[in-house]
Amino acid sequence: MSDTIRKHKEFLFPAVAMYYREPLALVRGEGMYVWDEAGDKYLDCFGGVLTISVGHANPAVVKAEVEQISRLQHTSTLYANHNHSDLAEKMAEITPGRLKKSFFSNTGTEADDTAILAAKMHTKRHEIVVLRHSYSGRSATALSAVGHAPWRPLPAQVAGMVHAHAPYCYRCPFGLKYPSCGIKCAEDIEDLIATTTTGEIGAFMAETILGVGGFIVPPPGYFERAVEIARAHGGLFIVDEVQTGFGRTGEKWFGIEHWDVQPDILTTAKGMGNGAPIAVTVATPEVADSFPGVTFSTFGGNPVSTAAALAVIKEIEDKVLRTNAKVTGDYFRMRLEELKDKHPMIGDVRGMGLMQGVEVVKDRESKEPAPQAVAQVFEETKAKRVLIGKGGLYGNVLRLGPPLIADKNNIDELIAALDAAFSAVKL
Ligand SMILES: Cc1ncc(COP(=O)(O)O)c(C=O)c1O
Repeated sequence: MSDTIRKHKEFLFPAVAMYYREPLALVRGEGMYVWDEAGDKYLDCFGGVLTISVGHANPAVVKAEVEQISRLQHTSTLYANHNHSDLAEKMAEITPGRLKKSFFSNTGTEADDTAILAAKMHTKRHEIVVLRHSYSGRSATALSAVGHAPWRPLPAQVAGMVHAHAPYCYRCPFGLKYPSCGIKCAEDIEDLIATTTTGEIGAFMAETILGVGGFIVPPPGYFERAVEIARAHGGLFIVDEVQTGFGRTGEKWFGIEHWDVQPDILTTAKGMGNGAPIAVTVATPEVADSFPGVTFSTFGGNPVSTAAALAVIKEIEDKVLRTNAKVTGDYFRMRLEELKDKHPMIGDVRGMGLMQGVEVVKDRESKEPAPQAVAQVFEETKAKRVLIGKGGLYGNVLRLGPPLIADKNNIDELIAALDAAFSAVKL
């Protein structure tokens, strides 16, 4: 065991779990690849949880960061800085609808907390409809919103979160099929509000694609109806684009743009900084304006992270990466469907753009989750020098989110590794 792994195990909280039977210590990255301490090179198809958007050590992003860090590292939000102001202006330009005013922070958790706080202050109501199978982060508020027992170490600490059924078509909570279901999971929000809240809510908050939940993609029409119901009960719509932002889903900047509905508040992080810690909550002017008094973040919107985010956005524009996410993502999906035809343990393939999930089951009839198979696929793909992710309530969904610079050759290499891995699985 390397010294790095030994110290990780001895001195970090044991809950800071690592992937793989023999965990990997990474030392270097470039484009689509990372290298471990032994010098082995891996094709990175998870990007540190969908965070490497424009490639490891992207030269334009590194240049922007180095130039800024050698000039001015820190200001706090008590002073203006051109990167902070320019990025806020850019966010108003690229986010949908009437979203205009930004509050920058460092993590998706903070972005979601800020959104919930803003919605409560704007509506003066404290009940929030969230989704089962969702993930929002690690604060008391975010943990209370999370829809997975394994990610909730304590009972909910913040009252007022009610959990709607997830739009999880593969495992429909009502046993129905789209479209004859009439999108019952959205309709049921009416009943949820009537039976578990005061009848008036502060917000409906949802990820566009439930990421940690296993890349669950809501069906067409879901958000239009769910948001209509939430608004009829006084609620705002908070969309969590922490995983789905910045072109990940193909063509659009943000995943929610694939549905015909406009959020009142949008949160995003991860791919925004290509690894620099940055997150943002963007709101309509009236929501932002109702945040009373003063607020502050020591590191939020700092000159270096905002320089990184501006460079990331420019890279996505210059290299037409939103289109690449669609074109390469469509090819990726086609190759995954071929794998599904070949391997019966693949129960479902779903996703958008370069965010594709593979749900693994013991057999397609019972749909019994097969996390043991996922564990074997993990070890086999690692042996083939390809990194992937996993998720889902049952730990049986492969999460595949390569950087937006991925090309067809990278996808072919990933598919070949998955194909060999599924062929080797013994249940
Ligand atoms: C959808 C979503 N929201 C919020 C978060 C929390 O982000 P962070 O880990 O940066 O606090 C995550 C993290 O995975 C996420 O996937």
